[in-house]
Order: sequence, then structure tokens, then C-alpha cells
Amino acid sequence: MAELQEVQITEEKPLLPGQTPEAAKIHSVETPYGSVTFTVYGTPKPKRPAILTYHDVGLNYKSCFQPLFQFGDMQEIIQNFVRVHVDAPGMEEGAPVFPLGYQYPSLDQLADMIPCVLQYLNFSTVIGVGVGAGAYILSRYALNHPDTVEGLVLINIDPNAKGWMDWAAHKLTGLTSSIPEMILGHLFSQEELSGNSELIQKYRNIITHAPNLDNIELYWNSYNNRRDLNFERGGDITLKCPVMLVVGDQAPHEDAVMADSGGQPQLTQPGKLTEAFKYFLQGMGYMASSCMTRLSRSRTASLTSAASIDGNRSRSRTLSQSSESGTLSSGPPGHTMEVSC
Ligand code: BEZ
Repeated sequence: MAELQEVQITEEKPLLPGQTPEAAKIHSVETPYGSVTFTVYGTPKPKRPAILTYHDVGLNYKSCFQPLFQFGDMQEIIQNFVRVHVDAPGMEEGAPVFPLGYQYPSLDQLADMIPCVLQYLNFSTVIGVGVGAGAYILSRYALNHPDTVEGLVLINIDPNAKGWMDWAAHKLTGLTSSIPEMILGHLFSQEELSGNSELIQKYRNIITHAPNLDNIELYWNSYNNRRDLNFERGGDITLKCPVMLVVGDQAPHEDAVMADSGGQPQLTQPGKLTEAFKYFLQGMGYMASSCMTRLSRSRTASLTSAASIDGNRSRSRTLSQSSESGTLSSGPPGHTMEVSC
């Protein structure tokens, strides 16, 4: 009998005819750490937070979030929220290359730029959606400004500084690999990279030929120099808001490969992520339960184990929700939700 092979399928469900993307408004503001550019879609909705996104290294808001935010089923969610997509300095389309010797902000300083964005827009609270470095930045922002963050979706977050072993490995890799290769190795698993799917070809091409590659390297260096977020089990340093923690099954450091996704679930599994996001928002009181699909209703009945982001993650099949939220938060039951996709 022929052997069954696992094939990675990227979900596709484009906007329906008549579902036109909303117009984008691009803004820049000056901050103590330089200027930051962000793009706003939609209009503020009364009594609702803005959705604020922060992208990973090697990407910008569009290459990181467009497949998710333009996914067909996502429209019924995002039409209820104004969206603010922040580009890390020098990552916005057409960004000039920073001069030699430019001191790029640390991840903590990038987090400290966010209040300037919210002040400019006159927005008081957000639901943050961050990937990799962006997830770290939004977590730091939430730790510093807990009253302004209603919820966080953290995709592939690594809350810890590099240990000496990581540094040694990083230095060794740096001897033989180019910056684009190292960043691709951060975004995707080796299995995905050697599979060289259309998606990988597309992102390899974007990163290798990025006109702002020197800026990307500066963001990459800031990411590698991050300090510990210092979440402590039962300690004082905790996220106070509901958290949806997402791990791509093939995220480079994810050991237990489970289902059919990749290192960047917002690119490869927008449908699964949309459904989990809808469920997360419903838990926060922002989605009528009538909007829940049959699938997510049935998954609700099979919620399983607790999770934390301190490395002792207990893997659940697809979706788990925790009242014992470990190092992530110390709030009421149902505060933390882990999604593996
Ligand atoms: C949005 O509708 O928020 C969006 C559209 C295009 C790219 C990213 C986000």
C-alpha cells in the first residue's frame, strides 16, 4: 500500500465579491526613540477597543497579517473593530535605509513607542495581536500599561532572553549563514524551508531582496538582545488581561509536531486562527454566541489542559483554555487560551 504523506495545505478563502478591503490610512508619529509608522483600517467603534498588531522580524504589517485580516471569515470579526497595524521603524513600505551607526531601538523601547501611537489616535484600549518579536513587544507594553490592554493574541512568543547556549549556536550559525537565511530559520522550520513550498519561495524572495535589509538586520539584532520578560509563576510580573497563546506546529523551536500547520500559522492557517480568535473575543464579551460556528461550539465542549509559556507547555490537541494560567496571567478562570495550529 502506498505510504500516506503529510502534505501542508495553506488555507485560502479570499474576500467574496462585494467584500472590498477597507481603505487604509497611513500615519507617522515622532516618539522619543524616533518616528513610527502605522496603518489604520476601519473607524473607531464606540465602547470597543482597537485591534493593534505588531509583526515579526523580516516582515512588515502587510506581509505578516494580510493573509489573516483579509481571510473571508475574518471580516465578520474585524468589521466590529478599528485596526491599527504598527510597522517597526524602518520596516514600512518604502522606508529609507538608516544611516550607518544608527542606534535602533531595543524591543523595550519599541514597546515604549506604542503610547505615542494611541495618544495620537486618541484610543484608550487595545486588543494586541503580535507575532514573534511583535508578540514580545506587545507583552512588554501590556506589562507596563496593563490598564490599556483588554486582551492579547501572542503567536510564537519567546519571552526569554537568549541564554549562553543560544548565543553560541547563534554565533556559529552566523559564521555560515546570511542574515536572510537566519531570519527565515527564525520564521519557519527547517522542514518547511527544505520543502520550499510556494509560500516559502515567496517569503524567501521578499526577505532576500528587501531594499531595507540593513534595517531588518537592526530589528533582528534588537530581537536577539531582548531581555527576559520575567513572567513569574504566581509572582508579581504577570499579564493581567486574557491571553490567547498560539504556537505554530512547525514553529522552529516547537518540538512536538502535531497537525498540519507551519511556523507562521497566521499565514498558513488563517481559518483556524480566525475561529480561535472569534472564540477568544466571545469570551471577552465582544462576539455574540450566534456568530460561533458549529465547529468552535463543539470544541468548546472539549477544552483541556493548562498551559504556560515558561517552557513547560502542556500540549493540547487544538484549543485549550486554562483557569490555572501559569506564568501568563493571574486573572479569573478562562483567562488563558492555548491554540496549536
Ligand atoms: C485590515 O483590514 O485590518 C488589513 C487589511 C490588509 C492588510 C492587513 C490588515
